[in-house]
Amino acid sequence: MGRIIALASGKGGVGKTTITANLGISLAKRGKSVCLIDGDVAMANLSLLLGMHSSPITLHDVLLGESTIHDATYDAPQGMKFVPSGLSLESYKRADSERLENVVEEIKDLYDFILIDTPAGIEKNVLSVLAASDEVLLITLPNSASIADVLKTKITAQRLGAKSIGIILNFVYEEKGEIDRDDIMKMLELPVLASIPYDSEVRRSFMQDRVSPVMLRKPKTPAAIAIQRLAAKLTGPISMEDVERAKSKGNIISRFFGAIGGIFKRKKKVKKDDK
Ligand SMILES: Nc1ncnc2c1ncn2[C@@H]1O[C@H](COP(=O)(O)OP(=O)(O)O)[C@@H](O)[C@H]1O
Ligand SMILES: [Mg+2]
Repeated sequence: MGRIIALASGKGGVGKTTITANLGISLAKRGKSVCLIDGDVAMANLSLLLGMHSSPITLHDVLLGESTIHDATYDAPQGMKFVPSGLSLESYKRADSERLENVVEEIKDLYDFILIDTPAGIEKNVLSVLAASDEVLLITLPNSASIADVLKTKITAQRLGAKSIGIILNFVYEEKGEIDRDDIMKMLELPVLASIPYDSEVRRSFMQDRVSPVMLRKPKTPAAIAIQRLAAKLTGPISMEDVERAKSKGNIISRFFGAIGGIFKRKKKVKKDDK
């Protein structure tokens, strides 16, 4: 059974969409089957970041009851699947976000991870995403306003039965005046699972000439490395089954494991030859 995780915050502009896309890619690189859902039905940005501009059927049509979630599921980078939200204001106004819970339930068993990009605030659309999720990753900046808002998200999620599993600090400059990581843990009573630095490579993700998640463009940049560590925490040790799946996608991790496998084989051969 897959994990349904909402990436939520009180404030807008803290990196929810960015982290959803890059965490998804990172989990997929670790061999996990991943579906990203753009739960920000009003301000759909995830499709732009993934470079998927026009999708004939979207989550709006599903929430209108006119299409199934399967009809609105598309192939995305790194072998992921993606359910975009529509860009039209008209269809957004008519879409009934309360249907989301049932809709997501339908695909729960198809993936290891379903990551839902959540709108800012605590309005109806946010409640619908939280109600549809089992777990929540709370994204905040290391400042008091952002933390105060994310606390409201945590409380709201709890009321709706979604368990907050940890905090992601984003736009970390390691500057004097930022609230200390330990204090944030105490305030929110949750572990900090990732501390993502401000990284100009991430900021460039939405720039016209190179719209693409940083995890694909620059996987070694500091923010991407922080997100990879988060993916590692969410998945635990890599199983052989995962490695096989990753291999079939021909990614870096599989090459790494392939190389290690090669070393072991060589060592065995040397031992045999010794005898
Ligand atoms: N760690 C980071 N370093 C630099 N820029 C970032 C970082 N995280 C996000 N951004 C940029 O901040 C802006 C807002 O991010 P976004 O993911 O759209 O936030 P949200 O979905 O919470 O509104 C985007 O231009 C994004 O590229
Ligand atoms: Mg967003």
